[in-house]
Amino acid sequence: MSPPARPSASSSSSPNNTQQLDFTHRFIPSGAGKDKARVTLLLLHGTGGNEDDLLPLGRELDPSATLLSPRGKILEGGRIPRFFRRVAEGVFDVDDLKFRTHELADFVEMASTVYSFNASKVIAVGYSNGANIAASMLLLRPQTLSGAILFRAMVPFVPDKIPDLSYKRIFMSSGLKDPIATKQEAESLASLLKQADADLVLEWQNSGHELTQHDIQTAKQWLLLNSKALDKR
Ligand code: MLT
Repeated sequence: MSPPARPSASSSSSPNNTQQLDFTHRFIPSGAGKDKARVTLLLLHGTGGNEDDLLPLGRELDPSATLLSPRGKILEGGRIPRFFRRVAEGVFDVDDLKFRTHELADFVEMASTVYSFNASKVIAVGYSNGANIAASMLLLRPQTLSGAILFRAMVPFVPDKIPDLSYKRIFMSSGLKDPIATKQEAESLASLLKQADADLVLEWQNSGHELTQHDIQTAKQWLLLNSKALDKR
Protein backbone atom coordinates (compact mmCIF):
# COMPACT_ATOMS: atom_id res chain seq x y z
CA MET A 1 0.00 0.00 0.00
CA SER A 2 1.43 3.42 -0.81
CA PRO A 3 0.53 5.78 2.03
CA PRO A 4 -1.44 8.94 1.24
CA ALA A 5 0.10 12.35 2.04
CA ARG A 6 0.94 12.94 5.69
CA PRO A 7 -1.03 15.63 7.54
CA SER A 8 0.96 17.91 9.82
CA ALA A 9 0.35 18.64 13.49
CA SER A 10 -1.23 21.96 14.22
CA SER A 11 0.96 23.81 16.71
CA SER A 12 -1.71 26.47 17.32
CA SER A 13 -3.92 23.84 18.90
CA SER A 14 -1.24 22.52 21.27
CA PRO A 15 -1.98 23.44 24.85
CA ASN A 16 1.07 24.03 27.05
CA ASN A 17 0.27 21.29 29.57
CA THR A 18 1.17 18.45 27.21
CA GLN A 19 4.09 17.51 29.50
CA GLN A 20 1.53 15.60 31.57
CA LEU A 21 1.25 13.21 28.63
CA ASP A 22 3.93 10.58 28.99
CA PHE A 23 3.82 9.06 25.50
CA THR A 24 5.56 10.60 22.51
CA HIS A 25 2.54 11.32 20.32
CA ARG A 26 0.82 13.35 17.65
CA PHE A 27 -2.44 15.12 18.21
CA ILE A 28 -4.24 16.41 15.11
CA PRO A 29 -7.47 18.28 15.73
CA SER A 30 -10.45 17.65 13.49
CA GLY A 31 -10.09 19.21 10.08
CA ALA A 32 -13.76 20.21 10.39
CA GLY A 33 -13.46 22.20 13.63
CA LYS A 34 -14.15 21.06 17.16
CA ASP A 35 -17.95 20.94 16.94
CA LYS A 36 -17.93 18.77 13.86
CA ALA A 37 -15.39 16.25 15.16
CA ARG A 38 -17.59 13.26 15.74
CA VAL A 39 -14.93 10.99 17.04
CA THR A 40 -11.31 10.75 18.05
CA LEU A 41 -9.36 8.00 16.35
CA LEU A 42 -6.67 6.51 18.59
CA LEU A 43 -4.05 5.37 16.07
CA LEU A 44 -1.87 2.46 17.18
CA HIS A 45 1.01 1.51 14.91
CA GLY A 46 2.56 -1.89 14.26
CA THR A 47 5.93 -3.24 15.43
CA GLY A 48 8.73 -0.96 14.25
CA GLY A 49 6.35 1.91 13.54
CA ASN A 50 5.93 5.29 15.16
CA GLU A 51 3.44 8.06 15.87
CA ASP A 52 3.53 9.32 12.28
CA ASP A 53 2.74 6.03 10.54
CA LEU A 54 -1.03 5.88 10.76
CA LEU A 55 -1.86 9.59 10.45
CA PRO A 56 -2.63 9.33 6.71
CA LEU A 57 -4.74 6.24 7.36
CA GLY A 58 -6.69 8.03 10.10
CA ARG A 59 -7.36 11.03 7.87
CA GLU A 60 -8.48 8.75 5.07
CA LEU A 61 -10.81 6.78 7.34
CA ASP A 62 -12.50 9.92 8.61
CA PRO A 63 -11.52 13.37 7.30
CA SER A 64 -13.32 15.09 10.18
CA ALA A 65 -12.03 12.97 13.06
CA THR A 66 -9.61 14.15 15.69
CA LEU A 67 -6.45 12.02 15.62
CA LEU A 68 -4.39 10.91 18.61
CA SER A 69 -1.36 8.83 17.74
CA PRO A 70 1.07 7.63 20.46
CA ARG A 71 4.34 5.80 19.94
CA GLY A 72 4.76 2.46 21.74
CA LYS A 73 7.23 2.74 24.63
CA ILE A 74 8.91 -0.65 24.32
CA LEU A 75 12.09 -0.72 22.25
CA GLU A 76 12.65 -4.28 21.09
CA GLY A 77 16.36 -4.97 20.62
CA GLY A 78 16.91 -1.41 21.81
CA ARG A 79 15.48 0.15 18.62
CA ILE A 80 12.14 -1.29 17.45
CA PRO A 81 9.10 0.47 18.95
CA ARG A 82 6.23 -1.68 20.18
CA PHE A 83 3.34 -1.24 22.58
CA PHE A 84 4.28 -4.20 24.81
CA ARG A 85 6.97 -6.83 25.22
CA ARG A 86 6.88 -10.23 23.56
CA VAL A 87 8.83 -13.36 24.32
CA ALA A 88 8.90 -14.48 20.67
CA GLU A 89 6.86 -13.66 17.56
CA GLY A 90 3.22 -14.13 18.54
CA VAL A 91 4.11 -15.05 22.16
CA PHE A 92 3.29 -12.16 24.45
CA ASP A 93 4.61 -11.13 27.85
CA VAL A 94 1.10 -10.93 29.28
CA ASP A 95 2.10 -9.15 32.52
CA ASP A 96 3.76 -6.42 30.51
CA LEU A 97 0.86 -6.31 28.06
CA LYS A 98 -1.61 -5.72 30.91
CA PHE A 99 0.60 -3.07 32.51
CA ARG A 100 1.07 -1.27 29.17
CA THR A 101 -2.65 -1.47 28.41
CA HIS A 102 -3.52 0.38 31.61
CA GLU A 103 -0.72 2.88 30.97
CA LEU A 104 -2.06 3.58 27.47
CA ALA A 105 -5.67 3.85 28.67
CA ASP A 106 -4.55 6.36 31.34
CA PHE A 107 -2.76 8.34 28.63
CA VAL A 108 -5.92 8.47 26.47
CA GLU A 109 -7.99 9.67 29.41
CA MET A 110 -5.43 12.32 30.33
CA ALA A 111 -5.15 13.41 26.68
CA SER A 112 -8.91 13.96 26.52
CA THR A 113 -8.57 16.47 29.37
CA VAL A 114 -5.45 18.17 28.02
CA TYR A 115 -6.78 18.47 24.44
CA SER A 116 -10.47 18.71 25.34
CA PHE A 117 -11.79 15.96 23.10
CA ASN A 118 -14.82 13.87 23.97
CA ALA A 119 -13.56 10.87 25.97
CA SER A 120 -16.74 8.92 25.27
CA LYS A 121 -16.16 8.90 21.51
CA VAL A 122 -12.76 7.31 21.12
CA ILE A 123 -12.27 4.61 18.50
CA ALA A 124 -9.02 2.68 18.43
CA VAL A 125 -7.53 2.02 15.00
CA GLY A 126 -4.75 -0.51 15.41
CA TYR A 127 -2.56 -2.46 13.05
CA SER A 128 -0.81 -5.69 14.14
CA ASN A 129 0.93 -4.95 17.48
CA GLY A 130 -1.30 -1.84 17.77
CA ALA A 131 -4.42 -3.92 17.09
CA ASN A 132 -3.34 -6.37 19.78
CA ILE A 133 -3.03 -3.70 22.47
CA ALA A 134 -6.36 -2.23 21.31
CA ALA A 135 -7.97 -5.67 21.76
CA SER A 136 -6.35 -5.87 25.20
CA MET A 137 -7.82 -2.45 26.05
CA LEU A 138 -11.28 -3.68 25.07
CA LEU A 139 -10.86 -6.57 27.50
CA LEU A 140 -9.22 -4.68 30.38
CA ARG A 141 -10.39 -1.07 30.09
CA PRO A 142 -13.51 -1.20 27.91
CA GLN A 143 -14.73 2.19 29.12
CA THR A 144 -11.80 3.89 27.33
CA LEU A 145 -13.12 2.99 23.86
CA SER A 146 -16.48 3.26 22.16
CA GLY A 147 -15.31 1.09 19.31
CA ALA A 148 -12.30 -0.29 17.49
CA ILE A 149 -10.96 -1.03 14.04
CA LEU A 150 -8.54 -3.93 14.33
CA PHE A 151 -6.32 -4.75 11.37
CA ARG A 152 -4.55 -8.15 11.65
CA ALA A 153 -5.36 -8.66 15.34
CA MET A 154 -4.69 -11.69 17.55
CA VAL A 155 -6.02 -12.83 20.92
CA PRO A 156 -3.99 -10.68 23.34
CA PHE A 157 -4.84 -12.95 26.31
CA VAL A 158 -7.90 -14.83 27.52
CA PRO A 159 -9.44 -12.93 30.44
CA ASP A 160 -10.62 -14.74 33.59
CA LYS A 161 -13.85 -12.80 33.41
CA ILE A 162 -15.38 -11.86 30.04
CA PRO A 163 -16.12 -8.10 30.07
CA ASP A 164 -19.42 -6.63 28.93
CA LEU A 165 -18.77 -5.19 25.49
CA SER A 166 -22.39 -4.63 24.53
CA TYR A 167 -22.65 -1.24 22.76
CA LYS A 168 -19.04 -1.52 21.56
CA ARG A 169 -18.77 -1.57 17.80
CA ILE A 170 -15.78 -3.46 16.51
CA PHE A 171 -14.51 -3.96 12.97
CA MET A 172 -11.88 -6.63 12.41
CA SER A 173 -10.06 -7.01 9.13
CA SER A 174 -7.92 -10.11 8.85
CA GLY A 175 -5.81 -11.76 6.17
CA LEU A 176 -6.69 -15.26 5.04
CA LYS A 177 -3.01 -15.91 4.32
CA ASP A 178 -1.57 -14.09 7.33
CA PRO A 179 1.27 -16.18 8.84
CA ILE A 180 1.38 -14.05 12.05
CA ALA A 181 -2.21 -13.16 12.93
CA THR A 182 -3.50 -16.42 11.47
CA LYS A 183 -7.08 -17.19 10.42
CA GLN A 184 -7.47 -19.30 13.55
CA GLU A 185 -6.20 -16.46 15.79
CA ALA A 186 -8.58 -13.98 14.16
CA GLU A 187 -11.49 -16.38 14.55
CA SER A 188 -10.64 -16.97 18.23
CA LEU A 189 -10.53 -13.23 18.90
CA ALA A 190 -13.82 -12.72 17.04
CA SER A 191 -15.47 -15.42 19.09
CA LEU A 192 -14.12 -13.93 22.36
CA LEU A 193 -15.47 -10.49 21.43
CA LYS A 194 -18.83 -11.95 20.44
CA GLN A 195 -19.00 -13.81 23.75
CA ALA A 196 -18.55 -10.40 25.37
CA ASP A 197 -21.60 -9.22 23.38
CA ALA A 198 -19.73 -6.80 21.12
CA ASP A 199 -21.32 -5.67 17.87
CA LEU A 200 -18.64 -7.25 15.70
CA VAL A 201 -17.95 -7.32 11.98
CA LEU A 202 -15.15 -9.58 10.76
CA GLU A 203 -14.00 -8.93 7.21
CA TRP A 204 -11.60 -11.31 5.45
CA GLN A 205 -8.97 -10.07 3.04
CA ASN A 206 -7.31 -12.28 0.47
CA SER A 207 -3.92 -11.18 1.79
CA GLY A 208 -1.15 -11.74 4.30
CA HIS A 209 -0.12 -9.56 7.27
CA GLU A 210 0.32 -6.43 5.15
CA LEU A 211 -2.39 -3.79 4.99
CA THR A 212 -4.15 -3.33 1.64
CA GLN A 213 -6.28 -0.60 0.07
CA HIS A 214 -9.22 -2.96 0.37
CA ASP A 215 -8.75 -3.08 4.16
CA ILE A 216 -8.92 0.69 4.27
CA GLN A 217 -11.95 0.98 1.99
CA THR A 218 -13.98 -1.59 3.95
CA ALA A 219 -13.01 0.00 7.28
CA LYS A 220 -14.00 3.40 5.93
CA GLN A 221 -17.41 2.12 4.89
CA TRP A 222 -17.91 0.49 8.29
CA LEU A 223 -17.01 3.74 10.04
CA LEU A 224 -19.45 5.69 7.90
CA LEU A 225 -22.25 3.17 8.49
CA ASN A 226 -21.64 3.15 12.23
CA SER A 227 -21.07 6.87 12.69
CA LYS A 228 -24.61 7.57 13.88
CA ALA A 229 -24.47 4.86 16.53
CA LEU A 230 -21.04 6.05 17.66
CA ASP A 231 -22.41 9.61 17.88
CA LYS A 232 -25.15 8.58 20.24
CA ARG A 233 -22.80 7.21 22.85
C1 MLT B 1 2.66 -8.76 18.17
O1 MLT B 1 3.75 -8.99 18.67
O2 MLT B 1 1.88 -7.91 18.60
C2 MLT B 1 2.28 -9.58 16.97
O3 MLT B 1 3.16 -10.65 16.85
C3 MLT B 1 2.23 -8.79 15.74
C4 MLT B 1 3.55 -8.16 15.46
O4 MLT B 1 3.79 -7.09 15.92
O5 MLT B 1 4.37 -8.75 14.74
